[in-house]
Amino acid sequence: MVEDARHALESVSLAPSPVVAAIDLGTTYSGFFYAYRRDPGNIYGEYNWPGQVEAIGRPYCKTSTTSLYQETSPGGGWKLLEIGYPAMLRHLDYLGPGQDTGEGRQVMLSRVKLYLASVEYARGGEGLQLPEGLTVRRVLSEYLAEMGAMAVKEIQAKLGAYIKKSDIQWCLTVPAIWDEPAKQEMRRIAEAAGLIGPGASPHPLLIVLEPEAAAVYCDKHMAAARGGIKRGDVFLIADVGGGTADLIVQEKMDRSLREVSRGSGDLCGGTYVDGAFLEFLGDRIPCLERFLDAHPRQMVLLMSWWEQQKRGFSGAGNPVVFDLPARLAAMWEKEDSEVFEDRDRLIISPAELRSIFDPTLDKILALIDAQLAASPKCDQLFLVGGFSQSPYLIKRVTDTFAHRVANIVTPPEPGTAICQGAVLFGLDPSIIAERTSRKTYGIKCDRPFEKGDPEEKKFLHEDHGCFYVRGSFHVFVRNGEQVPVDSKISHTFNPSRLDDTQSSVTLLTTDKRNPKFADDNGVEESFGFSIDLGIMPRGQRSFDVQMKFGATSIEVAAFRKGLDDDDDPVEVKVVRFEKRFANSRSY
Ligand SMILES: Nc1ncnc2c1ncn2[C@@H]1O[C@H](COP(=O)(O)OP(=O)(O)OP(=O)(O)O)[C@@H](O)[C@H]1O
Ligand SMILES: [Mg+2]
Repeated sequence: MVEDARHALESVSLAPSPVVAAIDLGTTYSGFFYAYRRDPGNIYGEYNWPGQVEAIGRPYCKTSTTSLYQETSPGGGWKLLEIGYPAMLRHLDYLGPGQDTGEGRQVMLSRVKLYLASVEYARGGEGLQLPEGLTVRRVLSEYLAEMGAMAVKEIQAKLGAYIKKSDIQWCLTVPAIWDEPAKQEMRRIAEAAGLIGPGASPHPLLIVLEPEAAAVYCDKHMAAARGGIKRGDVFLIADVGGGTADLIVQEKMDRSLREVSRGSGDLCGGTYVDGAFLEFLGDRIPCLERFLDAHPRQMVLLMSWWEQQKRGFSGAGNPVVFDLPARLAAMWEKEDSEVFEDRDRLIISPAELRSIFDPTLDKILALIDAQLAASPKCDQLFLVGGFSQSPYLIKRVTDTFAHRVANIVTPPEPGTAICQGAVLFGLDPSIIAERTSRKTYGIKCDRPFEKGDPEEKKFLHEDHGCFYVRGSFHVFVRNGEQVPVDSKISHTFNPSRLDDTQSSVTLLTTDKRNPKFADDNGVEESFGFSIDLGIMPRGQRSFDVQMKFGATSIEVAAFRKGLDDDDDPVEVKVVRFEKRFANSRSY
């Protein structure tokens, strides 16, 4: 806790970094953008990824979020061989266990970020299984370390060789639907990757919410358009990526943006369409799974073929023809010789393709619909994220919502919106002026008994000579309430007994709007610290607890009344909210 206080104070005294760089570590694709702080109008990014033309046939603003590992000792030793497209390509040459160079088993890992989305999902057996000896933290931090090194090299090459790691302020994007432990885990991953901390950047990592970054980008993008986004305009942004769809509604203020209603999201990005395609194919070709297990390189070829079909599908048109690899055709023929059918190819009709896309698109449309219901005044709808380029997705969104929203836009390069927006946010975090709280936050305290309070929590307060209740949830901010960024909310508390020389401050969080007690269902005791009151005279011991809702974190501080003040933080205990969850989940 004390260390955190020091960290917060140090960061205040640092001069702003000359360079701001953002890494978008996406579920399926990842990339980086950067800018000189002095030249915020020019944001640069990487479009020239190794292996991209071979892997996907064209330049893209991101590389694949794929890591290739090789086993160095059976049952747990692994080394990272490649990341990105080169990982996919190198895996193509892998002939399977026991048949390669004898160097040890290779595994290609993708979609690992989804493990962080929710514990239930990660444990839900949806095919995400890390081999023994590899953890989510290790895989993502090693990926991020490689990506960070590439970014530093590129920044030095493009902006100047004199730029040091310590000159860079890093921004890392996370989906808004992630819970606090997941965001915190991302911070630890960045530390493990060597982006921040000793020997790296002293500037605190900015965790940027992906839809907010998208909003900042769209606002800037539309500034040049006729009319642009005007003061008072309300716009909805749907960031439809590989794993998640994240939605947010913003209102344009004079020089900033304000979140209008609580954002929403779901696991319904483009990779769920890939999953549905594999399921569809598996239903038609019963031996497919065994074939792919036996020939892992075929999976890469199959999915890159599918990627092209997915990008081209508009909802109608000609059927697509999948030419089966000869070995798969032979395997199928052998196992199912009864039915007469052309085994070399599979024809997939537009109706079948629609059935592959529709469950995911239905979820995305439902999210947009719910946001529009919550914010009936919506002037513009922006679709960003890689999957928002799908012609069929655009058609369904337009068909469904054109009568409700006048302007539906997919900006150019929607896949870069998050990362460019994160750089813009890093350059000027004050651009997001107001947020909607996604939780109820408060402090645990004892308070006078009120009618209706549970009897078992009641006790006689000897100092005050009246009944009190234990463990009340004293609310600072409710779920759904608007909170201006950098606003501070304070409440005054007294120690439980007049003789107490210490008092504890325990932060409570919950999704509920009206929690009553710290032990209510769904209330978490997020962290606690104690404040020393011994130097204050008995009977005059009281303190303020202040929550500051900052650009990327919530800080909780306690001030002894009459002794400490805002400008003299020597005795102030500051806890960075996000830091506290470090050990609350294991990965
Ligand atoms: N032109 C296109 N048409 C259709 N889908 C596309 C197109 N380009 C990319 N995609 C899909 O978009 C998804 C990747 O989008 P994006 O790069 O925004 O995801 P991400 O940032 O990795 O994911 P997330 O934000 O969920 O972590 C993939 O499913 C990819 O197949
Ligand atoms: Mg994304």
